[in-house]
Amino acid sequence: MASTVAATIKRVALITGASQGIGKCIAQRLASDGLRVALNDIATKRDQLQDVAAQIRTSGGEAIVVTADVSREDDVKAMTTQVVQEAGGLDVMVANAGILGPFKPLHEVSAEEFDQIIAVNVRGVMLSYKHAAQQMIKQGRGGRIIGAASMAGRQGFPNIGPYTASKFAVRGLTHSAAKELMQHKITVNAYAPGIILTSMNLYEEDSVNGGPGSTAVKSIGLPPQTPVGEPEVIASLVSYLAKPEAHFITGQTITICGGIMPS
Ligand SMILES: NC(=O)c1ccc[n+]([C@@H]2O[C@H](COP(=O)([O-])OP(=O)(O)OC[C@H]3O[C@@H](n4cnc5c(N)ncnc54)[C@H](O)[C@@H]3O)[C@@H](O)[C@H]2O)c1
Repeated sequence: MASTVAATIKRVALITGASQGIGKCIAQRLASDGLRVALNDIATKRDQLQDVAAQIRTSGGEAIVVTADVSREDDVKAMTTQVVQEAGGLDVMVANAGILGPFKPLHEVSAEEFDQIIAVNVRGVMLSYKHAAQQMIKQGRGGRIIGAASMAGRQGFPNIGPYTASKFAVRGLTHSAAKELMQHKITVNAYAPGIILTSMNLYEEDSVNGGPGSTAVKSIGLPPQTPVGEPEVIASLVSYLAKPEAHFITGQTITICGGIMPS
């Protein structure tokens, strides 16, 4: 009887920064995998989130929208509560929201620019991990926590010092949380993309620099022939990490970069 009940629970995934780019693609993929998805972004992106939710529902999936600024603890707490109330629980947290900031050397970065990147990319991930973990521990059925790192969280690149520091921090949080949450059957992993074609990496100057992604590639000192990928390559990995069968993978930061940085 208990196994019949367990089999009928529809797992719920919350994806932050899901109005566009990698987060949107992950949400679409998890919905097509059969999870009920909760789509988060900042309040000004509500219409975009509603569009993504509508697309998912048209394709037969289930989606709700929950706006929050992940750098604010009250917001993250309220977001988690709302997801649990409206979607019935929380099984997969994808702490995807992140910002890059302007390309410039560290000696030109203001303290305010640094703080903003750390607030979203580090505090936002920490708060997302924290409140997801509290809920998953309470539920007692394990879970999956997945964060957005970067290949810049493995190696420093020029002109993105604060971003690089923030993504090294995501790896650190992921390692610690994985060890802490193992006893609750909650895995904690991160994806570390190379250059993925989203608005984070698309600039007007691309047309003169050599095509989509070329300005970002040039700005961080990579060669022009550097491979670039589509968000689907990340969504595919997240889809696997979110599955019950991935229970033996935890504490890992997996680089997906088309071979820029073999490990
Ligand atoms: N695109 C890449 O090449 C690449 C490479 C490595 C890592 N990443 C990481 O992947 C993640 C997704 O990146 P993307 O390329 O889709 O970027 P994107 O800019 O297209 O999307 C990021 C989303 O996060 C949202 N966001 C920003 N601040 C937020 C906040 N405080 N609260 C809630 N949402 C917020 C934005 O509104 C946006 O919708 C980021 O963490 C990024 O650092 C991207």
